[in-house]
Amino acid sequence: AEPVVPDVHGCNKPTLPPGAKPIACCPPNYENKEPIDYVIPNYQTLRIRKPAHDYDDLEKYKKALNIMKSLPDDHPHSWTQQSRIHCAYCHNSYHQKGHTDIEMQVHFSWIFFPFHRWYLYFYERILGKLIDDPTFAIPFWNWDAPEGMEIPAIFTDRKSPLYNDLRNQNHQPPTLVDLNWNGRTGVDTSGDVEANLATMYRQVYEVKRPICFYGKPFRAGDKPYSSRTGSGSVELVPHNTVHSWTGDKTQPNLEDMGALYAAARDPIFYCHHANIDRMWTIWKSFGRKDITDPDYQNASYVFYDENENLVRVKNSDAFDSKKLGYDYKQLDLPWQKAQP
Ligand code: C2O
Repeated sequence: AEPVVPDVHGCNKPTLPPGAKPIACCPPNYENKEPIDYVIPNYQTLRIRKPAHDYDDLEKYKKALNIMKSLPDDHPHSWTQQSRIHCAYCHNSYHQKGHTDIEMQVHFSWIFFPFHRWYLYFYERILGKLIDDPTFAIPFWNWDAPEGMEIPAIFTDRKSPLYNDLRNQNHQPPTLVDLNWNGRTGVDTSGDVEANLATMYRQVYEVKRPICFYGKPFRAGDKPYSSRTGSGSVELVPHNTVHSWTGDKTQPNLEDMGALYAAARDPIFYCHHANIDRMWTIWKSFGRKDITDPDYQNASYVFYDENENLVRVKNSDAFDSKKLGYDYKQLDLPWQKAQP
C-alpha cells in the first residue's frame, strides 16, 4: 500500500452537513504552487504550552489573534483561512493523490494525532510571527484535571478575540465538563470529577496497543468511514465528546465546536486540541511507542507556514514535539491512578 497524501491541486467545494451555510475551504493561491518539503527550523528557546486556567501569555495571545483577525480573508495567515484548514481536510474538499474520487479525511483513523499536531504547530508559529515572538506558545484546556474542567475563563470574556458566541449556554462556567458526554441521551451529567478521571484512565492510561490508541490504518485508496478505518480511543472520548459538549445545541449541527467544518472557528478549538496533542506526549511518556508502519510514517499534509511557504509535512517528523520546538508544562496527572 501507499501512504495517504492530499491531492492539493484538486481542492473542491466541501460537502457540508444539512443546515450549514455554504463556505469555501480551499487555501488561497495554492493552484499553481508546488508544495516544498518542510525542513524543521532550529530554535533557541523551547515554547512551553501552559494550561489555560494558569496562562500568563494571555495579552500576547489576544494581540496576535487581533492581528490575525484583521488580515484579509484571502491571506493564508488570516483567521478565516486558519479555521478553514480544518474544513478542507474533513469535508471531502481535498481528495487523495492517486485516488481523486476518494476523500482525504483526517479523522476516524491513525492520522488523527499527527495531522492535528501539524495544524496547531503552524497556527502557533503564525501567531508568534504576527507579534514577533518566537517563544509564543498557545494554552491547553486542561480538562483532565479538576482545576481545568470548566470552559477556561480566558474564553468567556465577550470583548476578547478568544470569545465565541456559539457554545452551549448550559455548559458555561462554573459547570464542569462531562468528558464522556453523550448529547443524545438528554441526561446532563456534567460536573462529575470522579467520572471524568475514570474516563481519562480508561481512554489513555489503560490503552496499551498503538492501534487502539492512535486508530486504525488509513492508507491511500482507503475510504474514510469504512470498516477498515476507525478512531483511536482518545479521538472518540474525550475528543469527540468535548467537541459536542461545547457546541451550541440550538444550532443545526452543534456549531461551532460540535461540527467538523465549523469547529476551528471557535478559538477554544485550538486549546482543546492542544490538550488532545498533550495526551499523545503523555501516552508516550508511559513508555509506549509510535507506529512504525511506513504508510503511517509517510502520510503527509500541506500547510502554509509562518513565512507563507506552501509546505508538505509528514507524520514521522511530528513524533517528537521537542524537535518541533515546543513542549507541555509538566503537571500532575490525577487520572493516572484513577482505576475505576
Ligand atoms: Cu479535526 Cu477536534 O477535530
